[in-house]
Parts: sequence; C-alpha cells; structure tokens
Amino acid sequence: MTVSNDGDAALTDEAPVRLRRLGLGDLPAVEAIERRAYNTPWSRLMFSGEISRPGSRCYGAFVGRALAGYLIVARYTDAWHIMNVAVDEPQRRRGVARTLLETLLGETDQDGTRGHTLEVRVSNHGAIRLYESLGFRPAGMRRAYYTDDREDALVMWRGEGPDDTPLIR
Ligand SMILES: CC(C)(COP(=O)(O)OP(=O)(O)OC[C@H]1O[C@@H](n2cnc3c(N)ncnc32)[C@H](O)[C@@H]1OP(=O)(O)O)[C@@H](O)C(=O)NCCC(=O)NCCS
Repeated sequence: MTVSNDGDAALTDEAPVRLRRLGLGDLPAVEAIERRAYNTPWSRLMFSGEISRPGSRCYGAFVGRALAGYLIVARYTDAWHIMNVAVDEPQRRRGVARTLLETLLGETDQDGTRGHTLEVRVSNHGAIRLYESLGFRPAGMRRAYYTDDREDALVMWRGEGPDDTPLIR
C-alpha cells in the first residue's frame, strides 16, 4: 500500500483506501465499528473528547465513503499514546491498521521529545505482531488492566520511554 501526501492510500488488489483526519461527523461510523470490534466499546463521548482535544491525532481510513478503520492518538508531555485502533472485520488483513500507524509515525517521528506507547491485551497476538513490526517493544505489564475480564495489558514503547516506565523484573 502506498500513501501520498494528500492522504490517499491505494491497496494493490482491491478498492483504494483514503486516509484523513476524523471529524465529529464521523462519530456514528466510528461507533458502529467500535461496537463490533470490542466487548467493552468506547462511548461516543470518549471519541468526541479525543477528536476535539488539541494535539490529538485521529485518523480514519475510508473505502469510498465508508469508514474501514480508525486510529486515535493522544499527545502527552512525554509520549504519543495510541489510545484506540480498530479495523472493521471485512477490511482486516489488508494493511489498513499498518497504514494508519505508519501515517502517524511519519507525521510524529521527527518529534524528538516524545516516543510512542500503547497498551495491548497480552492475548492479542495479531496486534502485538503488528506493533512489533513497526518497532514497538514490550516495556512492562499492567496487571488486570482490562476491567471486563481483568486481563493483563502489555505496555509497549517505540523509541525511548520515560524513566518511570514500569518494567517487569
Ligand atoms: C488489530 C487490528 C487493528 C489489525 O488491523 P488490520 O488492518 O487487519 O491489520 P493489518 O492488515 O495492517 O496487519 C498488519 C500485520 O499485523 C499482523 N496481524 C494483524 N492482524 C493479525 C491477526 N489477526 N493474526 C495474526 N497477525 C495479525 C500481521 O503481521 C499483519 O501482516 P500480514 O497480514 O502481512 O501477515 C484488527 O484486527 C482489529 O481491529 N482488531 C480488533 C480491535 C483490536 O484488537 N485493536 C487493537 C487493540 S490494542
């Protein structure tokens, strides 16, 4: 998949995917994918808060006019924090999440003051493989982080983390 500066991405074998920043008008489509993707979905209020927050990077990937996936990233003092990424099931394994993340990294890698971090369920091997392929590395665990089933979260960092990153010893 290639991505041009105007936000177009083209899949080699199927319909082209276009990336652009999310707006509040995208919330119904985001919410629909979110509810299909997660047992404990974010509320519309959580998405609108992130989309509206200064400094956040929130991208949508569209096939035609239909949203295929999204990436929600908050800018903190020491890190770009990947808060949420999801791709609708029929559009998975086509490189949509990779393209969303590569676009983020392309836009934020020059920011020498911030690394990139995220939490992921320890059982989410596909997502972990994706993040590792983009340079994220395990940096710690948050025990019983997920409230629905108390699954542990793996903390991953790309670039240098802060001194207080909780490491497993
Ligand atoms: C995780 C998720 C975002 C991946 O989206 P995607 O667009 O299908 O991912 P990509 O096509 O860009 O995958 C890139 C690479 O990641 C890895 N990967 C992604 N999904 C995988 C899976 N289910 N199993 C194994 N590897 C997987 C592969 O290495 C893949 O490359 P390949 O297809 O050439 O083998 C998507 O499965 C999803 O929305 N899941 C539900 C929500 C979720 O778990 N989000 C992450 C929370 S931390």
